[in-house]
Amino acid sequence: MTDPEAVVHGAAELVVGPDSDRGLRSYEDGAVAIVDGSVAMVGTTEDVIAEYPPENAATAVDASGQTVIPGFVDPHTHALFAGDRSDEFAQKLRGKSYQEILAAGGGILRTVGAVREATDEELVANLTAQLDAMLVHGTTTAEVKTGYGLDTETELRMLDAIERATADHPVDVVVTFMGAHATPEGMDTEAYVDEVVEEQLPAAAERDVAEFCDVFCEEGVFTVEQSRRILEAGREHGMQPKLHAEEFTRLGSAQLAAELDAVSADHLLHANEADAEALADAGVTPVLLPGTAFSLGESYADPGQFQDAGAPVALATDLNPNCYSQSMGFAVALACNGMRMTPADALLGATAHAARAVDRSDGTGTLREGAPGDVAVVDGPSHVHVPYNFGVNTVTTVLKDGTLVVDGGETA
Ligand code: NIG
Ligand code: FE
Repeated sequence: MTDPEAVVHGAAELVVGPDSDRGLRSYEDGAVAIVDGSVAMVGTTEDVIAEYPPENAATAVDASGQTVIPGFVDPHTHALFAGDRSDEFAQKLRGKSYQEILAAGGGILRTVGAVREATDEELVANLTAQLDAMLVHGTTTAEVKTGYGLDTETELRMLDAIERATADHPVDVVVTFMGAHATPEGMDTEAYVDEVVEEQLPAAAERDVAEFCDVFCEEGVFTVEQSRRILEAGREHGMQPKLHAEEFTRLGSAQLAAELDAVSADHLLHANEADAEALADAGVTPVLLPGTAFSLGESYADPGQFQDAGAPVALATDLNPNCYSQSMGFAVALACNGMRMTPADALLGATAHAARAVDRSDGTGTLREGAPGDVAVVDGPSHVHVPYNFGVNTVTTVLKDGTLVVDGGETA
């Protein structure tokens, strides 16, 4: 037998991923062996160490009393930004709405100003710091969007910064082009949509970095028709559609996502049952962002209607200056406490279902045999402890492709 790169053993619970019945498949006293970056064997500690003795492994982790889960997949972030909008937090607490702040030139537009002024080095350093924070919280795959440039030059600078920051970073980054995040100040929305379609998308496609194209389809931002035009153009340039849908108002954007066979429809606070069914029928993954509702003081999305329709509900942090959290564990806690998801469903939402939302079908978000060797060890004796113990980082150890990248809660 090949010497394993890594063996994690003795886990009180080891979560493999979804079972055939939409439940959680896990082992008590579980272990996983990783060879050549992928899961070679998963099972009880007795079975795994008989084949893969930990003493032969480059990395052996004794996870006694702890829970081993697949590394978190965060399928919706705006992790690359500059500046500080903490003062808007205070305004929101005093009753200002997100849209009022945006309409007054704050919100996204303010971050756009800061990103345009930042140097390339600052952008790379900012994203690296965010990815480091995500990694120590157990995230091994994350989506990152552009959308704070809102002109061709700065959108391309964002793509370049993402490429540079992620080249040697353990977190696998999935890139989404989002020139249609807002209309830049002083510009007419239709003229800006023309610019996105005719100038930004072709230039972004030449960089060949972005896998997805996303639009903020919302009252006062982009209409359903404008979103359709941008997403169809994105697809022609090889970027699969994603959509910020039904966040503050119900516009018909979930139906658009279904019609376009989008990879995911995200937010969905105001989606109804018919929307949930349309998404499920079209195979669009609903991504719910409880941190956004939490930080805006809005009501949470209803996961039940998507689950009833048969859709795999995914969760994400939505890390951005309006929702400042890098922790998928906290998103899982909010999904349970705020949206009444079970810990098992929430954990699947943060792993296997989240992988679907970024179109990863290689086993990412699971620890089944053949999957990437992406592992997080949580300090608690069952998966329930992921949401049960909230507000602290319970992730002690992280492996990426079988390499130890977080040890004792710190980057290795
Ligand atoms: O997903 N809703 C639009 N975009 C982001 C917020 C971005 C920002 O406020 O900077 C979101 O919540
Ligand atoms: Fe977003």
